[in-house]
Amino acid sequence: MNNNEFLQRVKNGLKHSSERRLTLKVFQVIKNFLQESDYIQEFKFPSSRFLSESLGISRDTIEKAYELLENEKLVYRVKGKGTFSIPSQIPRTIQEESNFSLPEQLIQLETLFFDQNLDFFADGMPEVRNFPFKKWYDTEKLALEQNGLNIFLKDNTQGLPLLRQEIANLVNTQRHSRVQPENILIVNSTQQALYLCGRVLFHPNDRVIMENPYYSNASHLFKMMGLNIHYCDIDAQGLMIERCHHLTDIKAIYVTPASQYPTGIQMSMQRKKEIVAYARQQNSFIIEDDYDALLLNRSENDAILGLDSCQRTIYIGSFSKYILPSLRMSYMILPSALVDAFTRYRNYIDGSAPSQYFQTILGKFMQRGYYAEYLTQMQRIYHERYEAFIFYFHQYLSEFCFIHEHSPAMQVACYFKENLPDELEESLVQAAALKNISLTRLSQFYAQHPSYGFVLGFSSLNPTEIKSCMLQLHGLITTELKRVNNIIVP
Ligand SMILES: Cc1ncc(COP(=O)(O)O)c(C=O)c1O
Repeated sequence: MNNNEFLQRVKNGLKHSSERRLTLKVFQVIKNFLQESDYIQEFKFPSSRFLSESLGISRDTIEKAYELLENEKLVYRVKGKGTFSIPSQIPRTIQEESNFSLPEQLIQLETLFFDQNLDFFADGMPEVRNFPFKKWYDTEKLALEQNGLNIFLKDNTQGLPLLRQEIANLVNTQRHSRVQPENILIVNSTQQALYLCGRVLFHPNDRVIMENPYYSNASHLFKMMGLNIHYCDIDAQGLMIERCHHLTDIKAIYVTPASQYPTGIQMSMQRKKEIVAYARQQNSFIIEDDYDALLLNRSENDAILGLDSCQRTIYIGSFSKYILPSLRMSYMILPSALVDAFTRYRNYIDGSAPSQYFQTILGKFMQRGYYAEYLTQMQRIYHERYEAFIFYFHQYLSEFCFIHEHSPAMQVACYFKENLPDELEESLVQAAALKNISLTRLSQFYAQHPSYGFVLGFSSLNPTEIKSCMLQLHGLITTELKRVNNIIVP
């Protein structure tokens, strides 16, 4: 670590610190830096004069912060030589403060997650190896210190005000909407949100429009509730709502406009407006599943929520793709008239809001700026992976498959070229299963006019892993294609 990197870290820390007293702020930021860096080797800090000039903070304040660090035995100072970290003490201090020991090296984290996470081209699995566990853990400690045992109580409200406020800020800035925390309901998952829609809004046989191909979890759930689903094809602009004008009594339109699942097509602004107009004319709701809109930071991708001035949109956001999928934390943004009914129903079926403990940590994690920082980092990583995927696709798969035009996404639908038999899909899935590889069939997402191929999720894989999975897939297809062709044309 050189002085420049140290300076960057301190500047960043100061920007996100909520401490108002400047000396304490500088002290806390440097302390965090030492703990996060797990400084095993001695580090020579820049002089107080250099730091003062670089940060635009008085030298006196820097001196006082160094003194506090010295009092805590985190640094020692030698007159005329400088300020130094105390090498072995920092890791020991962390361990003494808690019984929780974090894996110290990323390499260990990689091992920890490798088995769970690296499931070939697992669809829907986000990156977790870069998750800032240490910051999450610090926030957890802070939440316990500041909130005490209250955070273990059940929460029967719409959800924690702090978390709802942070979500409103996020959606308003990133999705160009004007959302109030009062319209937000915290739920466990998108799945629970959809189930609540079914219970509060629909009766069996009610008519709902869905995209074809569709998000299977939503389709299965709506079928289970006895809804009458009308599947409508998509084109390069998204759901072709003009094909639904002959329908009547439509209760809701379920869409994934930011990134259509599974094709990755981004709905055009024109189509979004048509859907809003259609819902108004039909007096129906729009269920907007915005599951991965923030991850790739696409341009011209405003949410339908912000375009709908008539309060017909039920917006569903999930943290499954952004933080850890195991957190089970999602949210609904509801028209004001529906908030009470949805809150009551959520409590009937689940007893309360999701764990107040996790809500508090997540709320503070967002408030401290860690979430925004992580999202920016993830956007960069996902873009890099998407580009690597496309590169290796052209190198290894394009002789068998093609991809339709779409926006960068976390999964890509790969369509068999015309000369490949449809049967290859099933036989490939089975051949892959024999090797413990799970392949996602493309045809399973179609209610009508199926296409064959597979949906490949790659966001949990780094570029090297993407290449290695591509090579495996290439090998599998070559072998299976020979076998299938021999059966079909003996
Ligand atoms: C279309 C779609 N919606 C929502 C989600 C998130 O679901 P949940 O919040 O239930 O984890 C996913 C996750 O893969 C998805 O693909």
